[in-house]
This record gives sequence, C-alpha cells and structure tokens, in this order.
Amino acid sequence: MKELVIKILKKALKEKGVSLKNEEIDRVIETPIPERGDYAFPCFFLAERFKEEPKQIALELRKKMGNPPVMEFEAIQTIGPYINFFLNRKSLARQTVWDILTQKKNFGKINIGKKKKVVVEFSSPNIAKPFGIGHLRSTIIGNSLANIFEFEGFRVVRINYLGDWGTQFGRLIFGYDKFGNEKQFRKDPIKHLLKVYVRANKTRYDKKSREWFKKLEERDRKATILWRLFKAYSSRDFKKIYKKFGVNFDVHDSESQYNKKAKKILKELREKKLLRKSQEAWIVDLKKYNLGVCLMEKTDGTTLYATRDLAAAIDRYKRYKFEKMVYEVGQEQKLYFRQLFKILELMGYPWFANCIHVDHGLYLDKTGKRFATRKGKTVFMEDILDKTTKLAKREIQKRTKNISKTELEQRGSRVAMAAVFYGDLKNNRSKNIVFDIKKFVSFEGDTGPYILYSYARASSILRKTKNKDKFKVYDLEQKEVDLVKKLSQFPGIVFNSYRSLNPSIIANYSYQLSQIFNEFYHVCPVLGSKEEAFRLALVEAFRQVLRNALDLLGIETLEEM
Ligand code: ARG
Repeated sequence: MKELVIKILKKALKEKGVSLKNEEIDRVIETPIPERGDYAFPCFFLAERFKEEPKQIALELRKKMGNPPVMEFEAIQTIGPYINFFLNRKSLARQTVWDILTQKKNFGKINIGKKKKVVVEFSSPNIAKPFGIGHLRSTIIGNSLANIFEFEGFRVVRINYLGDWGTQFGRLIFGYDKFGNEKQFRKDPIKHLLKVYVRANKTRYDKKSREWFKKLEERDRKATILWRLFKAYSSRDFKKIYKKFGVNFDVHDSESQYNKKAKKILKELREKKLLRKSQEAWIVDLKKYNLGVCLMEKTDGTTLYATRDLAAAIDRYKRYKFEKMVYEVGQEQKLYFRQLFKILELMGYPWFANCIHVDHGLYLDKTGKRFATRKGKTVFMEDILDKTTKLAKREIQKRTKNISKTELEQRGSRVAMAAVFYGDLKNNRSKNIVFDIKKFVSFEGDTGPYILYSYARASSILRKTKNKDKFKVYDLEQKEVDLVKKLSQFPGIVFNSYRSLNPSIIANYSYQLSQIFNEFYHVCPVLGSKEEAFRLALVEAFRQVLRNALDLLGIETLEEM
C-alpha cells in the first residue's frame, strides 16, 4: 500500500516539476496519529525549491492527484502543510492478509542484495578460555545480522574466526608444562587450563612464556602438540554451545592459519614504506590520522593480532570478492578496527571502505559492574544456560501440569534460548545492558518467553479448527485494523533494521506485534464468530509474520507452551 502512496506522490511531484526517487519519497513519508490517516507527506522540504509556503504546496500537489482510487483509499486530504492518506481499511486488510498468506516465509523480503556477497564475521571466541559472555553478544547479534542480510537477498558467508594464536599461548604452554596435571585436564579441560594460566600469569614467568610462544611460532613439536590438544578440547566445548544456540557457520577460520601469511604482510608493509621501528618493535604510525600507532611485529620477531587480521582481511577479499565485510566485535576494539581499516587503505586496497566494524556494548550485572568479572570469578556459559533452562522449566510447569519429561526438556531449552537471545536483541546493540536472567525468563512483559507464548496461542487457535473457507472482510473492529496495520509494516521494519545494522528494530517490533495480537484476541472472538474465516486468516497471518521476525532474530518458536 505504501508503494501506491509513493507512486501517487511521485506522479504529482513530477507534474509540478520535481523528479524524486522512490527511496527519497519513502524517507519523507511519516506515520501520523490514527486520526490523521495512515501515511502523511510533509511538504516543508519543498518550500525552498518552489519558493512557496508548504501549505500552498500541499494544496497544489493534492489537486494534481485528482480523485484517488476508491478501492484503495477512503480519502486523501491536506492538513496544513501535510498531505494525509487514509487507506481503505477493508482493502488494506484484504491485501495485507492475502500477501502474507501467499508469500509466507518470503513476506517482508525486498531483494536489495541481488545475490551480492557479504561476509559476516562473528562470535570469534578464544581457545583455552571459557566461552565468554562478550562472545555471547557477538554470537547473538552477528547471527541475526547474517540472517537479515540473507533475507534481503545477499549471499552471506558466516565466519567464525577463532582466537588461537598469540603470546598468551606461550604462557599457557609454559604453565601446563610446569603446573599441569593430565588427569585434571581430562576431567574439565577449560577449567584446568584457566587455573594453570592464572598460576603462570606472573612477571617472573614472562620471559619463559615468550620463549614458548616463539617455539610455537617455529613449530616446535612439544609446543605444537600441547597447543593442538588445547584447541581440540576448546572446539568441542564451543560446538556444544553453538548447537544449543542453533547457530551455524559456513567457515571456521582461525588466527593461527594466518601466522605465515602475516610474515608476508610485514614484507608488504615494509615495501610500501609503512613500517617504522619504535623501541625495537615495528609499528605503523597513524598519529597523523589521530589513530595512534599500531604494533605489527614484536622485538623477538613474533607477529601480532593486527598483523594476522590484515592477512585475514586480504585473504577474505581474495576468496570472496565481498561487497561488504562486517566484523561483529565489542566496543573495546573500536579504535583497533579503525586502525586496521586505515592500514588497509594505506596499503592501497580500495575495498577497505566496505569493511564495517559493527560493535556492541557490555553486559553488566545488576549492580552495574561488568558481568564477566563479577566477584572476580569467570562466568561459564554452560552454567548460565543451565540456570536459565532450569528457570524456564519451572515457569512452564507452573502453567502446564501434565507434561512428559522429554517435552519439558525440549520446551525448557527453547524458552531459555529465546529468553537469552531476546533479552539481548531488544536493546540497541551499542548500549550496555543488564544481564538479568530472571527478568529475561519472565513470561510477562517485554521478554522472549512472552513473545513465544503469543505465537503458541495463535497456533493453538488454528489447531482447533478445520475451517479453510475463503475469507470475506466485514466491517472491521479497531483492534483488527491495528493488527493489520502493524503486519503491513513488517517489510519496512526489516529494511530499517538492515540499513542501520540493528536487529533491535525487529525485536521491538515482534514484541509490539505480540501485544497488539493479544489485545485483538481479547476483544475479537475468533472461533464461532460470523467473521470467523477472516479472523482465522488474520491469526494465521500474525503467526507467519511473527515467525518470520523471530527467524531473523535466530529464535525458534514453539507450537505449545
Ligand atoms: N578473538 C577476539 C577476541 O576475543 C575477537 C576477534 C575479532 N575479530 C577479528 N577479526 N579481529 O577479542
């Protein structure tokens, strides 16, 4: 329907002597309060061009539109400097529901991507450490962004870039060699490595640790065997977590695979006269750009995070010729990524401009402190997920008495995942957020479980009937109009979310949509009413759109709750 409004405006504007693109008109159109119609077109921005009062412009444009098509519009009126469009409610309802029920999981798609490639790197945890809560955010947000790109017609390459190289592994190998215990390691590998690392993390062991890392870089046999062992156990843990999350990757890359290539990068930087010696180490000086300096090679000849990242970026461009590359990584690395992209620019890679750092804020605990360092203890992802699942199961049992154990397990874990994912995604990603499991799991309020519950309610209504009649639209109740309008906004919502790289727009929409659905359901009886066929179609349309939205967020639905 909005397309039609744009078309009418475009024609009238053209007759008045301005050609605007659809997107330009789209951007200006507002959603007014209900009494003022469905769409409003403000004329202020044209005043300069026409040297006329906006009010006058609105009147003239309206005149050029002539009689609006009665099937689609109840009226098109000027209100001061605005042109307001009042859609014909019945045809809006008919059209919207029809579109949704025929397009199904494709409803809301606009093919902007045209199969162009986008690389989305996300999650990227570090081995030999517990999967951190910071990586949880990257996983949830990155996964959703990848889904959104895909939905908008891009070909997406999802990369997990494992942190498995760097001086810390020298320390770990040294620590394990000195304090490690194989039996304890086998019992709980990551916890044991963490212990060992803490013991080795003393200045007096710095030299030894550096030596071990150098050995690792030189492929020393013992160092390599230990490192492989640590990596294998970490990967096993991470896999379990991704499985629970329902998150998949197309490519598993890691820092270690760029170790050799990083040496070539150093050569290239040197040839391009970008390297400078500073206190025995090699740096790229970016002070001119207000970006400080970026360390590239240490005094002992070992490479660094940044060097490997340069090699990885160049390699990815070779591999994918991407249109865009997104790095979903925490805010603490903002300056770092600006440095990285600047160096790519200075090296002469024009595609540096298509690299984007999509950042996110921190998780805080209820007292406002960084969550990960709570009480100085590490928080283990598995413990968090177990706790969330337990809470979710308790909530489910409160509502459903006779439920089998396996069913409870399954529902509990779905609800828990929805709680954690939605608890994150409902916030603008750059904000710090309070990680409050109890709140996240609540079945009431702005939560994942509330939304899942609304979905299950719609499913349950549809299960109770065999009515497959073609629907006819009768006079509509206000709540039906509200629901129809909200449903019709979905394509625009996805587009905004894509444009601003912010899944929270879709998350907030899902919540509002669920609320409107529940209000509708309270005042409009569905089964047995004379409007049954239409209302059933509306319920099904709601269920479809909510599902499309949740799919984009990476949240799986439940038919019963
Ligand atoms: N492993 C890194 C960390 O945990 C994040 C990697 C981000 N990606 C990148 N290409 N640098 O801090």
